[in-house]
Amino acid sequence: MDRNWWKESVVYQIYPRSFCDSNGDGIGDLNGITGKLDYLKELGIDVIWLSPVYQSPNDDNGYDISDYRKIMAEFGTMEDYDRMLSRAHELGIKIMMDLVVNHTSDEHPWFVESRKSEDNEYRDYYIWRDGKEGKEPNNWGSCFGGSAWKYDEKTDQYYLHLFSEKQPDLNWENPKVRESVFDMMTWWCEKGIDGFRMDVISLISKTPGLPDGALGKSGYGEFASSCANGPRVHEYLQEMNREVLSKYDLITVGECSGVTVEEAMKYASSSGKELNMVFQFEHMDLDGGESFKWNHEKILLTELKKIMSKWQTGLAGKAWNSLYWCNHDQPRMLSRMGNDDPKYREVSAKMLATCLHMMQGTPYVYQGEELGMTNYPFTSLDEFRDIESIHAYRELTEKGIVSPEDMFDYISYKGRDNARTPMQWDDGPQAGFTTGTPWIPVNPNYKEIYAKEQMERETSVFHYYKKLIRLRKEHEIIVYGDYKLLMPDSEELYVYLRSYQGEKLLVMCNYTAREIAFRIPEELQGRTGEVLISNYDRDRTGMEDAGQETLLRSYEAAAVLYQ
Ligand code: GLC
Ligand code: CA
Repeated sequence: MDRNWWKESVVYQIYPRSFCDSNGDGIGDLNGITGKLDYLKELGIDVIWLSPVYQSPNDDNGYDISDYRKIMAEFGTMEDYDRMLSRAHELGIKIMMDLVVNHTSDEHPWFVESRKSEDNEYRDYYIWRDGKEGKEPNNWGSCFGGSAWKYDEKTDQYYLHLFSEKQPDLNWENPKVRESVFDMMTWWCEKGIDGFRMDVISLISKTPGLPDGALGKSGYGEFASSCANGPRVHEYLQEMNREVLSKYDLITVGECSGVTVEEAMKYASSSGKELNMVFQFEHMDLDGGESFKWNHEKILLTELKKIMSKWQTGLAGKAWNSLYWCNHDQPRMLSRMGNDDPKYREVSAKMLATCLHMMQGTPYVYQGEELGMTNYPFTSLDEFRDIESIHAYRELTEKGIVSPEDMFDYISYKGRDNARTPMQWDDGPQAGFTTGTPWIPVNPNYKEIYAKEQMERETSVFHYYKKLIRLRKEHEIIVYGDYKLLMPDSEELYVYLRSYQGEKLLVMCNYTAREIAFRIPEELQGRTGEVLISNYDRDRTGMEDAGQETLLRSYEAAAVLYQ
């Protein structure tokens, strides 16, 4: 297998709005990030993925960009950006930018021009269609509720927006669109950035004719079968690779909703013609159910193992995995597959971290995950900020599809705002995030969960992450070893074995609060292992003492190396 620095790296995602506010306006900003780079250095991460910091009217918190070469005024200036970039580089930390090019803001000058007239030179930068019998051109619903089409009186046509109506989709079939995007990417690369995380990149190529999709509960048709991994997506990404990516030494990851192992082998093939890796969604969608996302269902461990293992073995030697439990679009994994009750919070956060970080792939840590931050205890609708939750609540309750009580429960459990509450730095006012009023409420548990205390305490979740990240640098088996799932039918334990050049690494995770008996696999019986990491107090040879059978305590995890 080829060695690459991005395979050996750990990425940390910053959602700038919620990370650190330097000027008291309640909104995180670039100077706030610069001030916390030493913290990230201490944690030991290699790369920062920065969620969008470009100029934006913030309909979708920066994922609606009105100028790709300007910094959002609330976040600071280009000088602030440059200072952050050079300080990060001084510390040996790379910066990966979010690239949002499936759509722009409707306030982007391209769209402002485009909507002016049918013969405007920017008209074909977007996807305009005539209505059908006075209605939308097709039945697609948007991700944020309602139709995916918006009627524009000026020219009596509709434009396509797979997300909000302030996020019109770019028309990638137009070579000028591709050229403009590639120019903009080159401009950032010349500035010295180190990579791109590509927002919903699997959606950029739409099936010609834009056929209706199967009708869902909300009364709209799905667009995924015509847009996800569309007919020309690989051609476009190969062109992007030739024109831009191949000219620089970058880390690239594509956010690919609807991606399968087979498709991922094209996006992230080791031949390097497109991207380094993708974010797949199969593990996140396990509790999606028929209601897509809005429910309060539990993920079965056997199902999670099946999916994770399929990706681990499916891509082995052919492409590369990204590893994540959390990001700005997902509720906190600790409140989903772990246990956020104070009694088990830290131990289960460490267990989840062990389970993920000992796999093959590039791990992503989402801000606050390294502290064991949890979902927010919502009590009223006005605590929500995210258009996805707000629109879904309105649409599904008004149509009588879900009761208001149930829907409140669902958005509280699954809503994206869970991940977007301010980073908990200390136990002072507003958790040290801001001296003003934060744009979204701080989780009241900041008195117990905060960085300052965890940095000082050796047994903290923070120190545990630090160790996991360090171990990855010390043991090649963690980066490059093969993966084999053991005990696939256990609903309690996630156990797997990594192998590399004669070494074995046994990873055991108890996903329950109960004690579960565990038998050391036959092939390792009688061998002495070294406990690399444990969220209890197993010492170096803790497994040997345990003999053939050991008890895994509540949420216990350990990784044991056999040389
Ligand atoms: C991606 C982003 C999400 C955003 C959407 C539209 O899924 O991660 O936050 O709302 O794309 O840009
Ligand atoms: Ca600020």
